[in-house]
Parts: sequence; C-alpha cells; structure tokens
Amino acid sequence: MAQINPSILSADFARLAEEAQAVDGADWLHVDVMDNHFVPNLTLGLPVVESLRKATDTPLDCHLMIEQPDRWAPAYAEAGAGSVTFHVEAAAAPVRLAREIRAQGARASMALRPATPIEPYEDLLPELDMLLIMTVEPGFGGQAFLDIMLPKIRRARRMMDRHGLEMWLQVDGGVSASTIERCAEAGADVFVAGSAVYNADDPAGAVAALREQAER
Ligand code: DX5
Ligand code: ZN
Repeated sequence: MAQINPSILSADFARLAEEAQAVDGADWLHVDVMDNHFVPNLTLGLPVVESLRKATDTPLDCHLMIEQPDRWAPAYAEAGAGSVTFHVEAAAAPVRLAREIRAQGARASMALRPATPIEPYEDLLPELDMLLIMTVEPGFGGQAFLDIMLPKIRRARRMMDRHGLEMWLQVDGGVSASTIERCAEAGADVFVAGSAVYNADDPAGAVAALREQAER
C-alpha cells in the first residue's frame, strides 16, 4: 500500500495549521527541518513540531537535514513526531541514534543523499523502520527528480527483500504525477510530495491522485 506524505516545506508557513489540515487523506505530514549547515537553507525546529502536533491528527514524519542529529533527533520523537529521519552523513553513531529514537516510541529512519551509496549500510537496515532515498539534493522544494536514483531504489528494495525486512522505503524530491509511477515500480512505498501537493489548487485531491498513480 502506497503512503503519500505531503511536505509542508511547500506550504504557507504563516498558516501551517490550516495547511496541515488541507491535506485530508495524507498518511503522514512530512516536516523538513533544516539548520543552514547540513543544507544551505533554514526552516523550523522543535517548537513548531510541538505546535503542529496539536494542530493535526495526521502523524508527523520529521526529516532532519541538520548537523549533529545524535544530539537532536530523540527530542523530535519526544516532541511528538511519529517518525524521525536523520541523515547518515551527519550521524556519529547511527545505530545508537536509531535505538534512541525507537526508545522514544517513534519509527527510526535513515536518509541518504544522492551521492551516498546504500551498500555500506546493509547491515544497519534491521535497526531501522524506514530508509529514505533522496531523489534531489536536499535543501529546497520544487527541484527536478533525479532519474539516476532509480537503480539505487531498486537495489535498496532488493536488499530489504533479501533480509526479509518489512521496512518502508521512502523517496523524497521531485515526486509528482509524472515521476511517482517510476518510483513505485522501482520499489518505493512511501512518497514525499511538496510542490506537487501544495502548489495544486486542491491539495487533498492531489494526494488522492498521487496515491492512485502509485498503486496503479
Ligand atoms: C527537500 C526536502 C523535501 C521537499 C520536497 O530537501 O527534503 O521534502 O519538500 O519538495 P518537492 O516535492 O517539491 O521536491
Ligand atoms: Zn524532506
């Protein structure tokens, strides 16, 4: 079953509560946390996550594009995120970090930038509930989908199957009506969509349409 996670990065930040409620039918709300160090952009942090938690019943999928996730990620779980994703490139101790996130009751997820290979992390997969394969360089919404990531998505899904893992495989960046089928065919099952949802006249309708395409 495909999951569609709208990214509020493309929403109106002055109306976050309404924007969160505008995507009725979404599985998770994707919250991009950027610190202007790991990526050249700055967004929001813990207080906003805490407030969003109260503003919507949709569970929060926090994507931390920050340095020192070892220090910060467990606090996002504590703040009410149902899933917390850290970048392996920034993590000092990814296994310990994943365990800490799970200990807070959240799903633990690890993200790979486009140039980060998956193979060195094969043995870590059982510690995770989800793997995020970035399909753009992280930092901004509205970028073009990187087709060159499709083989990596396929390899990741095969690796998970080989180990008998039921974990989720998320794609983030440039996911839209014209790219989601390719991602699904390659083995992704959780789809982040920012501009494709929030730039649409009917965000909830866009979520439903993306889901239908992913499950085709
Ligand atoms: C980019 C963020 C994405 C972003 C995706 O670094 O991680 O979640 O919101 O936006 P679109 O779907 O417009 O590429
Ligand atoms: Zn993201």
